[in-house]
Amino acid sequence: MPSAPPPQTFRVKSFGCQMNVYDGERMGELLSETGLTAAAEGQDADLVVLNTCHIREKAVDRVYSDIGRLKRRDGTAPLIAVAGCVAQAEGEEIMARAPSVKMVIGPQAYHRLPAMLAEAVAGRRSVDTDMPADSKFAALPARRRSGASAFLTVQEGCDKFCTYCVVPYTRGAEVSRPFGDLVAEAERLVEGGAREITLLGQNVNAWTGEDTKGRTVGLEGLIRALAALPDLVRIRYTTSHPNDMTDGLIAAHAEIDKLMPFLHLPVQSGSDRVLQAMNRSHTVESYLKLLDRVRAVRPDIALSGDFIVGFPGETEAEFAETVALIDMVGYALAFSFKYSPRPGTPAATMDGQIAPEVMDERLQRLQAAVGRGQFAFNRASVGHRCAVLVERKGKLPGQWLGKTPWLQSAHFIGNAAIGDIVEVELVDAGPNSLSALPLAAIAA
Ligand code: SAH
Ligand code: SF4
Ligand code: F3S
Repeated sequence: MPSAPPPQTFRVKSFGCQMNVYDGERMGELLSETGLTAAAEGQDADLVVLNTCHIREKAVDRVYSDIGRLKRRDGTAPLIAVAGCVAQAEGEEIMARAPSVKMVIGPQAYHRLPAMLAEAVAGRRSVDTDMPADSKFAALPARRRSGASAFLTVQEGCDKFCTYCVVPYTRGAEVSRPFGDLVAEAERLVEGGAREITLLGQNVNAWTGEDTKGRTVGLEGLIRALAALPDLVRIRYTTSHPNDMTDGLIAAHAEIDKLMPFLHLPVQSGSDRVLQAMNRSHTVESYLKLLDRVRAVRPDIALSGDFIVGFPGETEAEFAETVALIDMVGYALAFSFKYSPRPGTPAATMDGQIAPEVMDERLQRLQAAVGRGQFAFNRASVGHRCAVLVERKGKLPGQWLGKTPWLQSAHFIGNAAIGDIVEVELVDAGPNSLSALPLAAIAA
């Protein structure tokens, strides 16, 4: 490969989960530190980092089609780096299939991006999908700027091995970042403008660490420390696993005002037989009991979940149990997916793979159930007063968009700025958002 001129501008395109969004931001900061500039909207970039997701087949196909389409206006190709979970799972295959990719860099190695970039400029392609014991986080530059709502990865990896899922292979074993590093990073984010921080992890509620007094604490201990930061007003966390939902974390929902009344707790299916085949290690009943315990301490909590339709062997009756569970729980939000067989996972070779048209039809029925619950939840909020964290401008003059404590999108017209907490009354509900009136306007 001939050597290339050093890139001046870059763009990071992140797909997949919020942890990839966080990683994408960190790679962007690292590249800026190295002297590159983020390409403006609509401008060609000299370096494009595709930060990929391996969770479903479609996500992977997308990477290869994106690689093929990356051209600049002058017809030349940018330098391409493939990062994220596809890089981890299919690094060598990408190198073989896509000669235009010069760097392949796994999710645990991206602090090595500048070194790999230097190699690429010198004309050498490189792959780094090691999962080193030393933390990449320590090698990253400190945080500077932040939006009103920021992500902070506190835990990575998964030891659960659900039979359909690639995450334990792409992200490795469960690792918690140290307490002190996280508090320091949160302080920087708040100084940089964050009013809300969402703590992220593939199993975020499995986070554990040692606090400043050397005591072992769970996620609630970290949340308590962050709640002490005066300018931080909201704390959230996602994604949680039912088996890691401790009494301490549940109690935190009653005790810590800054912890928002929202819980994303995926269950995947409403059938015990399917849950067992998925190796979820919880039952429908144990999940419902858990929800009862959370609701007992925080009656207004908004619940959210993930669902898979068409897991191998799923019968119509088992699917109906999932719909019944959704109708019973009344989720404020939910994500639903057609089962996608992933190479190397046990479910991919199970008997009883479900036909695509059956999956399509089940997904539609499941999403209708989710929609009913979500709309009902939004309608039930009408008339309530709450605070909205303003995240951006709306399309109409004077309109602002933000989130309620229950993570609903709300819009209002009034005087505000990004990052403001505005007290409102929720006055009308749609399936996906609420309209609000600022209390100041009502009083006037
Ligand atoms: N650790 C989280 C979820 C991570 S992946 C948890 O267990 O809750 C996000 C979601 O993608 C999962 O909850 C699941 O609903 C979905 N998912 C994972 N693997 C999938 C597959 N092979 N096919 C379809 N959906 C999948
Ligand atoms: Fe995947 Fe299961 Fe781990 Fe979630 S808990 S990341 S679904 S293996
Ligand atoms: Fe996708 Fe990796 Fe996240 S597979 S969902 S980007 S952990």
